[in-house]
Amino acid sequence: MALLETDGLTKSFGALTAVNGVSLRIEAGKLHSIIGPNGAGKTTLFNLLTGTFPPTSGTIVFDGKDITGTPAARIAHLGLARSYQRTTVFPAFSLLDNVWVAAFATSRPWKGLLFKNAHEYPQVVERARAALSDVGLLSKAEVPAKQISHGELRQLELAIALAAAPRVLLLDEPAAGLSPDETRKMVALVRALKGRYTIVLIEHKIDIIMSVSDRISVMHFGSLIAEGTPEEIQRNPEVRRAYLGGVAA
Ligand SMILES: Nc1ncnc2c1ncn2[C@@H]1O[C@H](COP(=O)(O)OP(=O)(O)OP(=O)(O)O)[C@@H](O)[C@H]1O
Ligand SMILES: [Mg+2]
Repeated sequence: MALLETDGLTKSFGALTAVNGVSLRIEAGKLHSIIGPNGAGKTTLFNLLTGTFPPTSGTIVFDGKDITGTPAARIAHLGLARSYQRTTVFPAFSLLDNVWVAAFATSRPWKGLLFKNAHEYPQVVERARAALSDVGLLSKAEVPAKQISHGELRQLELAIALAAAPRVLLLDEPAAGLSPDETRKMVALVRALKGRYTIVLIEHKIDIIMSVSDRISVMHFGSLIAEGTPEEIQRNPEVRRAYLGGVAA
């Protein structure tokens, strides 16, 4: 059974239908990529999956439960975590504090916890440190976020998503704006997370997509136009026309 499944998912903004009847099955433990040209509706699809706004129509089922219309905070608790296309961190906070906030926000017992110091929650600190370690930033735990490089910022963002102990990790262009070196590092990180998490990845860099994905879904003007293995997608004539511009090897 799919861990995450949508049926006829649709989102309209006025006259524009950004996501149009998308039916998607994400299998547990797989890395499933979503590709498509700018404005195809990929980020909007993530916004629907994470409850940023409700769909106009259609359903979302996560782990057998219908979560359509569930608010974002609740969905994060259920185990759907995302990283954003644009980075959202607190620049003056240390890396550890940035990750700690995310770990704390999704840790279980809220009641009676509010007026203690951060270090009084050792399990939350441990989770935050483990997430920093997973992205190779543990040695910079005490450095303020404003002092790290752009590449490290994207790694931090990934750690923030991991700190929520997600069951599905949604990554929106984790390599956007990175240098070739930083991109290689990010790809290695995503590869290392593969298998440990169910991952849904949005990415424009087609060589990355082809090398890391188990399955690929292609969006075009809000609709899914193809789904398959990297090999199948590369051979699909409609995909080549719509997206790859006929240049795929
Ligand atoms: N909150 C919103 N209000 C109105 N229109 C929106 C909103 N969010 C997205 N759109 C529109 O929906 C369409 C799909 O946008 P979306 O950001 O999902 O595309 P994308 O596939 O993520 O593109 P990119 O590859 O450039 O990130 C675009 O035309 C965009 O302008
Ligand atoms: Mg986008």
